[in-house]
This record gives sequence, C-alpha cells and structure tokens, in this order.
Amino acid sequence: MSQIKAFLFDLDGVIVDTAIYHYQAWKRLANELGFDISVEFNEGLKGVSRMESLDLILAHGGLTLSGEKKNELAAQKNEWYLELVSRMNSDDILPGVATFFSQVRKAGLQTALGSVSKNAPLILERIGMTEAFDAIIDGTKISKGKPDPEVFTKGAEELEVNPNECVVFEDAVAGVEAGKRAGMFVVGLGAAHVLIQADLVALSLENLTVQEVLSKAE
Ligand code: BG6
Ligand code: MG
Repeated sequence: MSQIKAFLFDLDGVIVDTAIYHYQAWKRLANELGFDISVEFNEGLKGVSRMESLDLILAHGGLTLSGEKKNELAAQKNEWYLELVSRMNSDDILPGVATFFSQVRKAGLQTALGSVSKNAPLILERIGMTEAFDAIIDGTKISKGKPDPEVFTKGAEELEVNPNECVVFEDAVAGVEAGKRAGMFVVGLGAAHVLIQADLVALSLENLTVQEVLSKAE
C-alpha cells in the first residue's frame, strides 16, 4: 500500500442528501408514465447518469420510447429535480461533513469531487462548498458514468496523483465499483450488505475520522 495523498468524494448521498431528490423526481416521472419505482430499485440508479437512469426506469416499466421522447422526459425529470434543489443551502450539508473536511485539510490531503451529475457545480454553489475541492469532475467532464472509473481517474489526473494514492468516498453500488476499477481504496457510506465491494464501510462521514481511514488505506 502506498501513502495516501488525496480523497475523492462523490456528491449525491455523500456530501448532501440529494439522492432523495433524484429519487423523488424519478418516482414522479414513473408515476406519470403509469408505474412506480421502489426504494430498492432506486439503489441501482444511484451514481448512474441521467439518460442511463431513464433507460433503466423505462425498462422497469416495460416501455420503449423514441430518442426524442426520452430527451423530453429526462428534461422534465431534471426540471422537477432542480425545483427541489433550489431550496437547498448549507443546512443541507450532511452531518459530519464539515468536521471531516477540516480534518482532511489538517492532514494535508488534496480533495476532488467525482460526480456524474451535470448539476454538481450548481449544488456546490448552493451549499457553499465549491472552494472545498481542489478539482471538480462532474457530468459535463466525462463521457462514461459510474460504474466506469473515468470520473475518479480524471480526478486523480487533475490532482496529479496516482490511483493507489487516492481514497474514494461513495454511497452507491455503481460508485464503489467505479472506485475499485480505478484502482483506489474505497470507503462505502451506507449499508455493508449493499456496498459489498467497498474496502471499508461506515454509515456516513459522521462515523469516521480521517486518521481511521488513512490507517486502513495505507
Ligand atoms: C449522480 C446521482 O450523482 O448523478 C444519480 O447519484 C444521477 O442519481 C446522476 O442520475 C446524474 O445527475 P444529473 O444531475 O446530471 O441528472
Ligand atoms: Mg452518490
């Protein structure tokens, strides 16, 4: 194991609880199309890009639609999602994040955001955390969503560190897989029986210290 130099964070479900807003907006769309999506089904949407999520939802409802109609539905979902997000502010930062980030800085580690969301910069602005990241990789900078490792590989490149010098923090099954495929140590935030590929699992950043993570990763 090598010396860890950087921590790479997913956004939705790790820094802020926007995962619930994505779910609410997709559920509303599915309901309008005449079917429903469960919390369990939603686990498979976490970390997955907007169009890939729509494809999974349509397949779940047994629907095949034209590209034009799909673009329309994806835009509608995003409109609903943005309505929910527009009410967010720094109070929506998840418990433990501020303390964890101050420990990250004290430890001299670099930070990157690794999110497939095209809305990530907007959300960081709303919660006042843009400056907390040395590099920001979002859905506009990548061609492949998680579980492809691209988002984390690009983050490491931008920080000029090697994959084995990085730790990824993820709440999604697809995101944990992306981090592992990038060759990084992955901390899963959520349920251990769901995030089985993670190297270490905790319920949230509130339940971890930077020293604990470094001691396990190095
Ligand atoms: C990920 C979320 O961060 O971003 C997914 O976990 C979402 O649920 C994806 O589909 C894309 O987000 P956006 O904001 O570009 O639609
Ligand atoms: Mg997430």
